[in-house]
Amino acid sequence: MKQDIRNIVILTGAGISAESGLATFRGPEGLWEGHRVEDVCTPEALAHNPALVHRFYDERRARLADVVPNAAHDALAALDRAWTGELLIVTQNVDDLHERAGARRLIHMHGELNSALCAACGNAVAWSVDLPPESRCDACGQPRLRPDIVFFGEMPYQMDRIDVALRAADLFVSIGTSGAVYPAAGFVQTARHAGARTLELNLDPSAGSDYFEESRLGAASLLVPDMVRTLLA
Ligand code: APR
Repeated sequence: MKQDIRNIVILTGAGISAESGLATFRGPEGLWEGHRVEDVCTPEALAHNPALVHRFYDERRARLADVVPNAAHDALAALDRAWTGELLIVTQNVDDLHERAGARRLIHMHGELNSALCAACGNAVAWSVDLPPESRCDACGQPRLRPDIVFFGEMPYQMDRIDVALRAADLFVSIGTSGAVYPAAGFVQTARHAGARTLELNLDPSAGSDYFEESRLGAASLLVPDMVRTLLA
């Protein structure tokens, strides 16, 4: 697989953080206090029940202190450090495990727990503690800070940069995602049309498995280090 691969795009989902102890969305533990996550990650839920939505993200943000990166995060960070070609890790995850493992060429397309966004002026600020509703934005003074999470129906971050990288990719790898949510689920198509090799590493077959040239089933902590060893050999 190594030959003529220079530009790599890697998409990660909740499955890469599962072995660190963070729940996935559509697994058996995918509910939160009886709420389907999809019912909490919406602009409507934020408008109608801000306290519930803020509490949901406060609890997930606080949970980050209890978990550490696993071998899959570590392997991708090692690839990032060593790879002399283009490399972009696009994560759907809002946890900070990729950066804590040392990844640098990283985009959080669905936002991140350790950030607060001002709904009035659009300023984002690092935030690692609880975020009560109506917290005040330092940039504009409005009491409009919200979790910096891309909700269903909102535009994911840095889509232009992601699209450019996908069209230039020689290899696209999808790790630990069910392929249930667009636009991330469509990345494999863009990469394929651009002539990239496509590889899926996932515990179970995903909704998009048929689009991949190769799909390996197994735990990320085993499959990802193995893939990185091959790429760096
Ligand atoms: N190793 C590899 N894959 C795993 C592991 C593991 N240890 N554990 C679970 N998986 C796989 C599951 O088989 C599943 O296909 O990870 C995938 C997790 O899927 P989801 O729970 O749907 O999470 P994800 O695909 O990241 O969800 C995408 O949906 O709710 C929204 O915005 C949210 O970013 C999220 C998006």
